Amino acid sequence: MDSLTVELEDRSYPILIGAGLLGEPALLDRHVPGRDVLLVSNTVVAPLYAELLAGALGERRVVQVILPDGESHKTLASVARIVDVLVANRFGRDCTVVALGGGVVGDVAGFAAACYQRGVQYVQAPTTLLAQVDSSVGGKTGVNHPGGKNLIGAFHQPVAVLTDVRTLDTLPPRELRAGLAEVIKYGLIRDAAFYAWLEANMERLLHREPQALAHAIRRSCEIKAEIVGRDEREQGERALLNLGHTFGHAIESATGYSGWLHGEAIGAGLLMAASLSRECGTMRPEEVQRVRALLERAGLPTAAREVPADAVLEHMRIDKKVKAGRIRLVLLRGIGTAYLTGDYPDGALRATVEAYHG
Ligand code: NAD
Ligand code: GLY
Repeated sequence: MDSLTVELEDRSYPILIGAGLLGEPALLDRHVPGRDVLLVSNTVVAPLYAELLAGALGERRVVQVILPDGESHKTLASVARIVDVLVANRFGRDCTVVALGGGVVGDVAGFAAACYQRGVQYVQAPTTLLAQVDSSVGGKTGVNHPGGKNLIGAFHQPVAVLTDVRTLDTLPPRELRAGLAEVIKYGLIRDAAFYAWLEANMERLLHREPQALAHAIRRSCEIKAEIVGRDEREQGERALLNLGHTFGHAIESATGYSGWLHGEAIGAGLLMAASLSRECGTMRPEEVQRVRALLERAGLPTAAREVPADAVLEHMRIDKKVKAGRIRLVLLRGIGTAYLTGDYPDGALRATVEAYHG
């Protein structure tokens, strides 16, 4: 088992990465505090792993909430359902919420934990690659509003992240590829050597070789932990983790959150960010080509022709990074270095979006 720490003073917590750890009572004893546990999962993940996890939680009182599957259930209604169960079972402030699932379950359960009695402890047990490399780390929790994605939420750090890489065995291939988009993102924003490692090892990752996956998860979490440790509340540097997201979120909202997986939209967004960086003179054409090639090898979409450019530009305007009416974007200074800027030619942004959309 591998471990690293998200350093946040009295709110620091471990990320444990290993095969089979959700079934290890001694480990859960150490990292799941309290006697009362609310296990939150969904209708796909619970039948696969809830029994294993509940069994390893031993003598604790374990109550389960099983949400319907999917992004459309990342809502305040799901949070209310979780809180109803906490209240009905008279769970106190010393209870622990355990989120077993992908980013949707993690975000909803984490937000319920942030709200219940003004905040109770929670543990992330991520089961998608995307959740293992990104959403389970860093304490962003929340739900969607009909007016936009993740518009309601709170920063609330987990007390531990328990990443059982064996859960990836059952992940559908398309979901694995979506997670790889976030892994590629880390190489692009912070680590050219890791990016080159991904180029050399993409097939091993697609074949789910445990050692390759464990390395990709570890390095991704290290990068995220480092950035979150310096800028928990996204006052600056943390925004770099949103490379490709302004473009990607616009695809997701323009398509009504159906059809495109989050990671797929981010994949296309990474290439658009690289292309706009080339237009701004901070990225060489051959580097943009490397980004396109790696995304293609990962089986990710590199354009969204069925989504009209005007609709995407409109949706970009309500992004959380808009400041004083200006869309700020994360761009690249070559592979391995990202920067946040509002200083780019408007025409170049429009031309980039038009080049990748219908
Ligand atoms: P998801 O949670 O919807 O999971 C994808 C699908 O895989 C679902 O159908 C799920 O039931 C299924 N699944 C999960 N684990 C499985 C397993 N081991 N075996 C078989 N099937 C499994 O989607 P996701 O990609 O994990 O997360 C996307 C969400 O994460 C979005 O809502 C996004 O906004 C959020 N997110 C949050 C952060 C953050 O910092 N909080 C960061 C990135 C993304
Ligand atoms: N996924 C971006 C962040 O956690 O900040």
